[in-house]
Amino acid sequence: AGHPLRRRADGMSQLPSAARRIAHHLNAVVRGDSLASGESDPAVVPSPLFSQRALVSSLDQYREMYRRSIEDPAGFWSEIATQFYWKETWDPEVYAENIDVRKGAVSIEWFKGAKTNICYNAVDRNVEGRDGGKVALYWEGNEPGLDGRLTYSELLDRVCQLANYLKHVGVGKGDAVVIYLPMLMELPIAMLACARIGAVHSVMPAVVFAGFSAESLTQRIADCRPKVVLTCNAVQRGSKTIFLKDIVDTALGECAKDGVHVGLCLTYENLSAMKRDDTKWQEGRDVWWQDVVPNFPTKCEVEWVDAEDPLFLLYTSGSTGKPKGVLHTTGGYMVYTATTFKYAFDYKPTDIYWCTADCGWITGHSYITYGPLLNGATVVVYEGAPNYPDPGRSWDIVDKYKVTIFYTAPTLIRSLMRDGDDYVTRYSRKSLRVLGSVGEPINPSAWRWFFNVVGDSRCPISDTWWQTETGGIMITPLPGAWPQKPGSATFPFFGVQPVIVDEKGNELEGECSGYLCIKKSWPGAFRTLYGDHERYETTYFKPFAGYYFSGDGCRRDKDGYHWLTGRVDDVINVSGHRIGTAEVESALVSHAQCAEAAVVGVEHEVKGQGIYAFVTLVEGVPYSEELRKSLILTVRNQIGAFAAPDKIHWAPGLPKTRSGKIMRRILRKIASRQLNELGDTSTLSDPTVVDQLIALSDH
Ligand code: WT7
Repeated sequence: AGHPLRRRADGMSQLPSAARRIAHHLNAVVRGDSLASGESDPAVVPSPLFSQRALVSSLDQYREMYRRSIEDPAGFWSEIATQFYWKETWDPEVYAENIDVRKGAVSIEWFKGAKTNICYNAVDRNVEGRDGGKVALYWEGNEPGLDGRLTYSELLDRVCQLANYLKHVGVGKGDAVVIYLPMLMELPIAMLACARIGAVHSVMPAVVFAGFSAESLTQRIADCRPKVVLTCNAVQRGSKTIFLKDIVDTALGECAKDGVHVGLCLTYENLSAMKRDDTKWQEGRDVWWQDVVPNFPTKCEVEWVDAEDPLFLLYTSGSTGKPKGVLHTTGGYMVYTATTFKYAFDYKPTDIYWCTADCGWITGHSYITYGPLLNGATVVVYEGAPNYPDPGRSWDIVDKYKVTIFYTAPTLIRSLMRDGDDYVTRYSRKSLRVLGSVGEPINPSAWRWFFNVVGDSRCPISDTWWQTETGGIMITPLPGAWPQKPGSATFPFFGVQPVIVDEKGNELEGECSGYLCIKKSWPGAFRTLYGDHERYETTYFKPFAGYYFSGDGCRRDKDGYHWLTGRVDDVINVSGHRIGTAEVESALVSHAQCAEAAVVGVEHEVKGQGIYAFVTLVEGVPYSEELRKSLILTVRNQIGAFAAPDKIHWAPGLPKTRSGKIMRRILRKIASRQLNELGDTSTLSDPTVVDQLIALSDH
């Protein structure tokens, strides 16, 4: 394999082989207890009663369904698709794909020629054919005691009013709409309203830790050029108030300087956080949501769109500086999110479902808004922080709404685990039936705590592996269908063919470890990177020709269980949020006093991975605490709080090869204090740099 290479935003195209570039990362980022102990754990066998009632009751039943999904994908998916309403049906061909770059441009199409509308299927159909009085959304505010709810009929009314307003202001099919809202019911309403009229939504995460900064927002708004931005004045999360409108103001101001003018900022007055009189206002551009939207009719005709028309754009970090606009289309995404939701959580119509994610991330798109509502589920939307006012809040919510399916992230599990069992056991939690985990590998000790303490050893855990790009869950246990191994995502979902390949792209068989790729397309796959189909091909389909490359390492054990081992590219996973090292580096070097920066991920007890930055200052500038803070602030301002480095390590120099490439392998070892595993440093142009760095470790 080649040397670890130093890349900047533009470096990628010059590399000889993407496969070589990532090779050295394999196994570099493995959480301490994720593999070794997990495998020796006894498998956890589901209770016979649970299995009996489950949608898929046994491994045999799964194998039969899985076999069909692989042998006859068209038959398998079209049969499921007929459960939805299609204004016009698809061509005889259910799908057409080329994911092999050697055979021409990558292209994926499902249900082509068909016309449908995902909002219609998620909302109207539940009112017409089923029970419009069923609760669609329960809303729980940040402050205990503040709550609300909407039935499916009420949801439909609200969606139609907003859709009518958007049409009134000129938003039409194919237009982009940016949504920067906290977890109010207006957030899923806004997504559905866009979908109803064929507009393409792009939700930007807005809440505290995970929220985007004004600069991140600017960059994305400039990329997708929305007609309208939907936001609210402020939100209270935990004990903090976040002034979202101020952030939007700054972003729109910056965009205008670059010639990107957004003419309308529809602002929801979030009274629990801030009064309208205190909100800064730009006449002519800003409009109060409550002043206009309720005046519009509660009926709004559906815009029937092509199955391959875009539904939304979601920006995600890659290994180079510029964020990628992941584009999902309508028909395949609809069928895939609905089906994965149903099976991965063994969904029954009596379930009450709560996912702790923010709609600004893919989990919220697929498993708060679309997947659950397409199944007619009752969904809890929580505005606040899961540990506010105390670490028992999540279980208080579970008891209050009698939540049966609870889907969250390992970082929250680890943080609640640290706060102690008492906060959990003082609540009943007896409604819980199925637990879910997503975002990063769940280490076996967190898995066991989640299983034993939260679920009283009663609820199967769906450890769901997937990505923004995949649209929906790809590898996951099906509750009740087979024994679980703590820390393993187990087996592929229907229609998904994971393969593990070596550096040269050879498929490995049996017990093996390598790069996780997917053979063939699946309905929920993203179709392109917005405005950059070439980057789409280069990043995902060129590293291993003939496959979709996930960017993750994976091991398959003797029983065929899959164990995800983390990213193998330069992407760090902080609390389930993806962040490219190059993005943090370019933020750091934009600081006037920073000459060079190299960022690596290190194990972090709660966040999974923390951000560790080696920083070389401009000649003559002394290190200081003040400078450290200002560097961190620069990253917060440019990207968002979640990207702030946990550690700045002053570096008089960085370990480079003679050709000037930074050896991250060595930096990773220094950052994780594995000093006896530095490996060969003889190829460095100046090996003494390493000793200097070690000497400065504790400064
Ligand atoms: C990356 C995708 C999928 C929604 C949340 C994150 C990691 C995600 C798991 C899991 C091991 C996981 C992978 C993946 N990841 N779920 N259950 N086990 N790793 O979406 O921001 O697109 O990040 O998250 O590394 O590539 P995302």
